Amino acid sequence: MQNKFIKFTVVVFAIVLVYLTFRHNNKKNILPLTKSWEKAVPHQEIPEGLTSLSAKQCGTCHQKHYQEWQLSTHAHAWTDLQFQAELKKESSPFMCINCHIPLQNQQEFIITGLIDGDIYQPVKEKNIHFDRDLQQEGINCASCHVRNNVIIGPTGTKKAPHKTVKNTEFLSEKLCISCHNAVAVITPTLACSFETGDEWKEGPYFKEKNCVSCHMEPVQRPIVEGAEKRLSHLHYFAGSGIPKFDTVETKMLNGLAFYPSTLKTSYAVQDELIFKLKLKNEHAGHKVPTGDPERFFNITFELKNKSGETLSKKTERIGEQWQWYPTAKKLDDNNLLPNEERTFIFSHLVEEKGNLRLSVIITKNRLNKESADYNQLKGNYPLFITVFNEQYDVIVK
Ligand code: HEC
Ligand code: HEC
Ligand code: HEC
Ligand code: HEC
Ligand code: HEC
Repeated sequence: MQNKFIKFTVVVFAIVLVYLTFRHNNKKNILPLTKSWEKAVPHQEIPEGLTSLSAKQCGTCHQKHYQEWQLSTHAHAWTDLQFQAELKKESSPFMCINCHIPLQNQQEFIITGLIDGDIYQPVKEKNIHFDRDLQQEGINCASCHVRNNVIIGPTGTKKAPHKTVKNTEFLSEKLCISCHNAVAVITPTLACSFETGDEWKEGPYFKEKNCVSCHMEPVQRPIVEGAEKRLSHLHYFAGSGIPKFDTVETKMLNGLAFYPSTLKTSYAVQDELIFKLKLKNEHAGHKVPTGDPERFFNITFELKNKSGETLSKKTERIGEQWQWYPTAKKLDDNNLLPNEERTFIFSHLVEEKGNLRLSVIITKNRLNKESADYNQLKGNYPLFITVFNEQYDVIVK
């Protein structure tokens, strides 16, 4: 009798379970995450020998690395004002954070799938290991050096107090490209377009120099105070050099070389004043600018007379042009390929006598003023830096 009752209960239970599963699946068709950037780096335990995953702790021993990294944009990948403004928009999907705070330990929720494959309906679970301080660090040391709960290094040294394994394949340009190359149309009006990895692969530096050799300069130095010198690499991740905050002294690399023509010192009325400026992408292993489609260079020529009146002004632009509505589409891209050169010409028919001054200014811009205003980015958020600024004086006799 008791046996029968148990059997009956088991059968009922099984039917209820099948029904619930069926109903659940019917209502919510949960699809798995497929793209690499849809997934965070899975939960990491603190490597043996350490008490925290934070850059701050790494920095107690690796002081130079820590100081350099603090000036890098990687350290500001979460706190960046534009990123925070974008993140608050409903149009920004959950996976925005996966390249900016890549560790699951830095994320408040664990995403296990997408309801009906819809990126705006992620299946969320509270992350009990979420660490808010770690989140503030953006792309920190552990983002690049901790996997499977151990420190990944280039030699696997036994001198370290923490568990260390050697993996040079992991610490190669492939690591950089995993974040610095993403091309996808996410929704009709939202496209991801970072092609730095592809630009490098298709360019002249492939197999010669890579992301690490250009952006992490090798130096001989001790990697902890008091240790012997060994091969090390600067951790500034120097790039465009446009600082995140006026107060952060970001390191800059210059991709462009500037070749200005000369001007005659004296002209006559009705002469044509002609000035040429050749720009060449001499130092970057990819296009200039690269990555973020909002970046651009402005080249401004302005000719003024003695009383400061503008006689002629001309602005040229190097950058991508996008249309975002009704569908995201790249309209134009005149970014300079590696070794590509372009000459900009300013000309003016001189009509009056006196002293004239031609000023030539080149700025490297993070984003335009309209986008900055739209995102209400005020105050301490530099939009550009000046990389070329020359004045040429001429006399018209
Ligand atoms: C208590 C001091 C200490 C702390 C904290 C510490 N390290 Fe180290 N680490 C060392 C020492 C010592 C070495 C070996 C020095 C040598 O090779 O000369 C080392 C070596 C390394 C190496 C090189 C490994 C290799 O394969 O050559 C890496 C990478 C590294 N640490 C990363 C980190 C990261 C990331 C953190 C923080 C999560 C961290 N370390 C925290 C002391 C420390
Ligand atoms: C031959 C050296 C070289 C190589 C190889 C190289 N870079 Fe650069 N990179 C530069 C220089 C120089 C700049 C500065 C360009 C400028 O004037 O803004 C730069 C700028 C950048 C920027 C800032 C964006 C910008 O438009 O300024 C990013 C991001 C970047 N590089 C990532 C990478 C990645 C990722 C790789 C590997 C796929 C890589 N770089 C390979 C030299 C290099
Ligand atoms: C964006 C990825 C990235 C971040 C962030 C990063 N590193 Fe590295 N690190 C590397 C790579 C790549 C190498 C190996 C370079 C090589 O050997 O070619 C390296 C090498 C090292 C080494 C070995 C010695 C050397 O200088 O080559 C140490 C130690 C180290 N990193 C510590 C740190 C610490 C501490 C932090 C945080 C303050 C940090 N790293 C942040 C990518 C990163
Ligand atoms: C986890 C994803 C991730 C990895 C791995 C990564 N980056 Fe970045 N990188 C970013 C993000 C995101 C930014 C922009 C942060 C911001 O502007 O707020 C950035 C910024 C940069 C910049 C500065 C761009 C500028 O404006 O000047 C350079 C240079 C750069 N990365 C080079 C590298 C190199 C070299 C490697 C490999 C050693 C690497 N990155 C690995 C995500 C990553
Ligand atoms: C595949 C990795 C990846 C994903 C996903 C990603 N980003 Fe980024 N993000 C980057 C990299 C790399 C940079 C560095 C820009 C560069 O190359 O110059 C960056 C830079 C930025 C910047 C700083 C731009 C600047 O001018 O300094 C903002 C803002 C930003 N991302 C917003 C977002 C938003 C919003 C999303 C989600 C829609 C997102 N990101 C998703 C990799 C990523």
